[in-house]
Amino acid sequence: MTEAILRIRNLRTYFFTRRGIVKAVDGIDFDLRKSECLCLVGESGCGKTVTALSILNLVDSPPGRVVSGEIYYDSLNLLKCPPDQIRRIRGKEIAMVFQDAQSALNPVFTIGDQIAEQVKLRPEVNQREAKEQVINLLKEVGMPIPEKMIGYYPHQLSGGMRQRAMIAMSLSGDPQILIADEPTTAVDVTVKGQILDIFSQLKSTRQMSLLFITHELGIVSEIGDRIMVMYGGKIVETATVSELLNNPKHPYTISLIKCLPDITQVMGRLESIPGTVPSLINPPSGCLFHPRCDKAMAVCSKEEPPPFIVAEGRTVFCHLYSRPER
Ligand SMILES: Nc1ncnc2c1ncn2[C@@H]1O[C@H](COP(=O)(O)OP(=O)(O)OP(=O)(O)O)[C@@H](O)[C@H]1O
Ligand SMILES: [Mg+2]
Repeated sequence: MTEAILRIRNLRTYFFTRRGIVKAVDGIDFDLRKSECLCLVGESGCGKTVTALSILNLVDSPPGRVVSGEIYYDSLNLLKCPPDQIRRIRGKEIAMVFQDAQSALNPVFTIGDQIAEQVKLRPEVNQREAKEQVINLLKEVGMPIPEKMIGYYPHQLSGGMRQRAMIAMSLSGDPQILIADEPTTAVDVTVKGQILDIFSQLKSTRQMSLLFITHELGIVSEIGDRIMVMYGGKIVETATVSELLNNPKHPYTISLIKCLPDITQVMGRLESIPGTVPSLINPPSGCLFHPRCDKAMAVCSKEEPPPFIVAEGRTVFCHLYSRPER
């Protein structure tokens, strides 16, 4: 097992709104290991983006605030870093590809200028070298005719091209960690495959760690090493991709997998998980999933499940695994 580059402990990020306290991330722990691709999956609103924003200290504040926890990047607790230090880490050491490429790019600057801006932040790089590096970055993400594309404005690019430009920009500081927040959600199916290929390639060519956020469990097998499943601001199960897809343990993960379209079955019906996602303001008692769980027991509505280690490196937060015979 490789060493962790990022260690998250008991992270809680809440939003203090007029309607009440939204517990968007509520006590999560995980390690991102060196050179691995860790996927974070879960339904819309479960806290994936807020987890990523918490790592980079970009939570909208107010109303949001990290109320507890530690986020260690090597031995540095990012939550205790002064703002100028975290600004230096952001982009250069830990970069992020945002969910919405359209709004993350500045409409009044060309793609080339926006990527060069990041490259030029390094004082040793001159104008000519910066241009060369921008072209190389665009080549790395499969941008066609990069020499021409550097002069384009974001609105002149297709969704897929904008996404590539975003990825190139995120790589410009040569980061150790890349957080990709749903990089394939806003693009159509063919482009989705191409974007996934870029990430697979980056995984093998660059020695970086990737935290890949998606609500599509179907795509993680193409890219991920391990998966964390998140539900209502908490992590409910962590496992390697193959273990999780072939032998899911948490009833929520089992339901998510049932919802995957089965391409081998022409008539395969897409199931949806009965019930609705839990309120993060007034969450259910005990296990957050118990109102939707077909295996719920009396204890599930009373006690929050602790982490049960079901096998080496496999943790499941579910009372079903509290008994050895299961
Ligand atoms: N600025 C904010 N103010 C109040 N609540 C917020 C704010 N930002 C996020 N939230 C709440 O935090 C919760 C988690 O949101 P988050 O964006 O992390 O979900 P997500 O898992 O990324 O969903 P999606 O798949 O739709 O992107 C949601 O209930 C959301 O409404
Ligand atoms: Mg999100």
